[in-house]
Amino acid sequence: MRKPLVAGNWKMNMTRATGQALVAELSGLPAAVEVVVCPPFTLLAEIAAHCPAGVSTGGQDCFWVPNGAFTGQISAEMLDDAGARYGIVGHSETRGRFGKLDIDAGDVGYFAETNTTVRRKMEALMRVGLVPILCVGETLAEREAGRTEDVIREQLEGAFQGFTEGDMAKTVVAYEPVWAIGTGQTCAADEANRVCAFIRQWFPAGVQNQVRVLYGGSVKAENAAELFGQSDIDGGLVGGASLDAAGFRRIVEAAAP
Ligand code: 13P
Repeated sequence: MRKPLVAGNWKMNMTRATGQALVAELSGLPAAVEVVVCPPFTLLAEIAAHCPAGVSTGGQDCFWVPNGAFTGQISAEMLDDAGARYGIVGHSETRGRFGKLDIDAGDVGYFAETNTTVRRKMEALMRVGLVPILCVGETLAEREAGRTEDVIREQLEGAFQGFTEGDMAKTVVAYEPVWAIGTGQTCAADEANRVCAFIRQWFPAGVQNQVRVLYGGSVKAENAAELFGQSDIDGGLVGGASLDAAGFRRIVEAAAP
């Protein structure tokens, strides 16, 4: 039986004061749901130290080398040292699209992440015992071109290359259609479930029942129960709606079996 998981991705939001106030309001969430908050790096240690029981923390990204001359980067070892237990990898806001980046044209892959760098980050997180939350998903153009499954297969193949089945089973995959992120345009629950099932079936048979597959993209209190009620959706990766304690609580409650 897979335990439902709801992770809040705070992205580049919150201060020490507002972040602490938010997690202080997250006590008493249902124990049947694993709850993770992913603050910006600057807040990670402090939030990890102040999280109520049942809530753990994750980083939003990491670099794959443990330490060294990599200005501006944070390693998986540093996430671990700060108290994190999870790490988001391959978010569409850190990936590049088709290997090129045109911010002026509205490309949101600001950090030119490739499937290869995603894999190195996955390996780095596993090396220190953190759980990767791998984000996969297609853009609107890719969906309209009928390439959704191809794009996701490529992302999965890239991220998990060389992984043992045992390591695959420890990871979490989040299906985040790029067109549904921050747009208010949620993917219909049955379609989200169809793609999450496709992701699950990509894994070897022995892994399929263990790997947790989340949905992310405009999840809110109003649509969470329908999404989490689907057979292949084990919870959510929540952006904007994770910044409000009352709304996030309702989303977590919606994931309780
Ligand atoms: P929103 O919930 O704001 O659409 O963001 C989703 C997301 O990108 C979570 O990682």
